[in-house]
Amino acid sequence: MKGVVLAGGLGTRLLPLTKITNKHLLPVYDKPMIYYPINTLIKGGIDDIMIVTGGNNAGDFLRLLGNGSDFGLEHINYTYQEGHGGIAAALNLAEHFVDGEKIVVILGDNIFEDDIKGAVKEFEKQERGAKIFLKKIEEPKRYGVPELKGNKIINIEEKPKNPKSCYAVTGLYMYDDRVFNIIKNLEPSARGELEITDVNNAYVKEETMTYSILNGLWTDAGSSFKSYYRANKWVAEGLISKF
Ligand code: DAU
Repeated sequence: MKGVVLAGGLGTRLLPLTKITNKHLLPVYDKPMIYYPINTLIKGGIDDIMIVTGGNNAGDFLRLLGNGSDFGLEHINYTYQEGHGGIAAALNLAEHFVDGEKIVVILGDNIFEDDIKGAVKEFEKQERGAKIFLKKIEEPKRYGVPELKGNKIINIEEKPKNPKSCYAVTGLYMYDDRVFNIIKNLEPSARGELEITDVNNAYVKEETMTYSILNGLWTDAGSSFKSYYRANKWVAEGLISKF
């Protein structure tokens, strides 16, 4: 499977840190933020990777990541998102790269302790549909939150006022190649973005969405200063393994 790292957007929640650089280039302890999701993909056996970025500092990704050789990759692919139309809009730009295969998508500000190798193998066997990864957390309100009935997801709400479970939908997604048709039929949300939660709900509705619950630590590092600090602390304390 191919991998896509989404690293566009404005990063306004981390201003003024993001005034002169892209959020995913900020340090998380001793490495730039984007190193962590790239490493998660590579450890999971994904070595054909595209980075989707945008904004004024896109050239810095090239300077930082080059052709991927620091990660042991043969090459790395890039594309550029004009504006900040949402996670699903950023993913849509990877269609030509993905070229009909199944994909693993990871958000450029998400930090995972879990090894995803097993999940990648499982999804390779899944005939069609999608797979998402849930993490039990104390304050799911700021994330996508699934509503579960028995062991089935029946709906996902984006940043709900009254979360229907104690799980967050993390920024790791696996899709079949129909994801691009789904994105093309989306309408922008109230915040003017094409939402990944709407993509996921299309698969939920079709009953082809599977999920796993993560055992290891997970945080996003870019939705608040609190989460940015948490990510730095976990890496500094060795709770997230170094690479
Ligand atoms: O961290 C997990 C959460 O990420 C999920 O639980 C939510 O369902 C999902 O919507 C997302 O929530 P956020 O509001 O935190 O997403 P954010 O706008 O911070 O975007 C996350 C990453 O997606 C960001 O690091 C870069 C990429 N992105 C985002 C936008 C809006 C793009 O590449 N382009 C974009 O236009």
